[in-house]
Amino acid sequence: MSRRITFDPPIIAHRGVSRMAPENTLAAFRKAKELGIHWVEFDVMLSSDDIAVVIHDETLDRTTGFNGNVGDFPYRFLKTLDAGSWFDPSFSKERIPTLADVINLLNELKLSANIEIKAQPGKEDQTVKRVMDVIEAHWGNISMPPLISSFSISILEKIRAHSARSLIGFLMHEWRKDWEDVCDDLQAIAVDVNHKILDPEKVKSIKATQRALLAYTVNDVGLANKLYSWGVDAVFSDTPNELLKGAIKPGLG
Ligand code: G3P
Ligand code: MG
Repeated sequence: MSRRITFDPPIIAHRGVSRMAPENTLAAFRKAKELGIHWVEFDVMLSSDDIAVVIHDETLDRTTGFNGNVGDFPYRFLKTLDAGSWFDPSFSKERIPTLADVINLLNELKLSANIEIKAQPGKEDQTVKRVMDVIEAHWGNISMPPLISSFSISILEKIRAHSARSLIGFLMHEWRKDWEDVCDDLQAIAVDVNHKILDPEKVKSIKATQRALLAYTVNDVGLANKLYSWGVDAVFSDTPNELLKGAIKPGLG
């Protein structure tokens, strides 16, 4: 791979620091900065009026208490919802941010990002176009362009067709024997893997291709250390504060 990415400390705040603030809100990304974490991960999909918004579930229920689908409402409505009280009443002012809002904050905080695209079925083309337009318009001069990932190969193919320079991460929940061909075709620089399907041999095979290997979701120090000892480059974690206390990888505590 021509581009290399580095992780020091080797922790990516998953949906922001999502055990200390409501996931995928500006408050959760600010927490990462406060803890000295340099990378955040978050999820993006489209509102009904094709605004790229940062939220994990296709439904609004869990994180706003409103019964409905993200993709059925325009952003002018989505931004009225309280995206923080479900986590703690002290976060009642948090809103579902747009991708532009989040990128503007990351520019200010000098944080790097893994942007995970979760397109609603049938909206893949618009989602990729809108997300790439927002990245191109807002991403600042921080050291590294965003790493863009998805579980969907078709979405990643659309990203690559849109831009030869994008940094792509292939997300793998179940092991695929053809992962290397998929990554070669996409020119992916990272493989983001469910830690439950990793073992030392699989880690070795991925690292032999010079790609970054990122494992999700790791909230236990012992597990993080085991994965680092196998060669995993960084872990997505809801609890970076806990990992910082006890992980042994160089660059940590
Ligand atoms: O990118 C790692 C992780 O975020 C993938 O799973 O469901 O938390 O988006 P999920
Ligand atoms: Mg995600």
